[in-house]
Amino acid sequence: MSFVEYSDIIQDGDVAIVYLGHDSMTPIKVQHGAQTQTRYGAIRHSTDLIGQRYGLKVTCTKGGWVHVLHPTPELWTVTLPHRTQILYTTDIAAITMMLELKPGSVVCESGTGSGSLSHAILRTVAPTGYLHTVEFHQQRAEKVAEEFREHRVDHLVTVRNQDVCKDGFGVTGVADAVFLDIPSPWEAVGHAKAAMKKHGGRVCSFSPCIEQVQRTCEALVKHGFQEISTMEVLLRTHDVRTVSLPMPDFGPHDTAQEKETPPNQTVFMLKTTTPPREIPGHTGYLTFATKPRT
Ligand SMILES: C[S@@+](CC[C@H](N)C(=O)[O-])C[C@H]1O[C@@H](n2cnc3c(N)ncnc32)[C@H](O)[C@@H]1O
Repeated sequence: MSFVEYSDIIQDGDVAIVYLGHDSMTPIKVQHGAQTQTRYGAIRHSTDLIGQRYGLKVTCTKGGWVHVLHPTPELWTVTLPHRTQILYTTDIAAITMMLELKPGSVVCESGTGSGSLSHAILRTVAPTGYLHTVEFHQQRAEKVAEEFREHRVDHLVTVRNQDVCKDGFGVTGVADAVFLDIPSPWEAVGHAKAAMKKHGGRVCSFSPCIEQVQRTCEALVKHGFQEISTMEVLLRTHDVRTVSLPMPDFGPHDTAQEKETPPNQTVFMLKTTTPPREIPGHTGYLTFATKPRT
């Protein structure tokens, strides 16, 4: 198992995602001799998991069952232990596309936080790209580095425990893209520029408040970035529902059958979708810019 490569068979030491139904999921470390308790009873790792195929349905000791899934960055985002606020898939999708990430891209990121975005970046840039991620909170830096090892992606990433605003990313002239998710991104824009390749690249900064966006844009202009644009990505879920409507009355009726059934007593059923009137869940603004060739 690796978060950047699929394997069929569950092995000792893997991280697997247990799907308990109703969108409830939890990550587990697969270990010989270990057991995981669920509301359906225990899962015995040695007999129920190791050597079995990912995707399998496991019957737990109380008779209920769960599915055991191969981990992905998307599943990790919804199951990871939070140490910080994290980025979710809606923003991550826009970030990955607008930063033009692809296999082989070199990316600098700060702060690492809980590593939600980092895992998505790693899957996108693998197998030949690289992530340099900077986190100034020591325990968070150590914890995420441990997770990268457990998820077998540590060959693709370096975690640096330093202040990106003071000390930068620890690399110069290597990055195709830089991502900032820190309270004062404007203080790191100069370091972002220094980390990027001479032939240019893309930068993105995530901020919840528009005042942070304004200061970041000013810093981007000052450092010669171009194509500066800010967007907010909102997810609009359309619920499908069935409505019943009265049959329209088209005037006098001629046939015998229609005379027997007055039209205004007939209804017809219609499947429809309704967009929500309000969209809760502002996460933040994404500011993108391009560093031109220097
Ligand atoms: C909101 S979290 C990032 C979440 C991350 N994008 C994710 O998806 O999991 C912000 C992180 O930035 C770190 N941070 C804040 N200022 C920093 C700085 N100047 N240098 C390095 N890390 C910083 C914080 O410790 C925190 O862990």
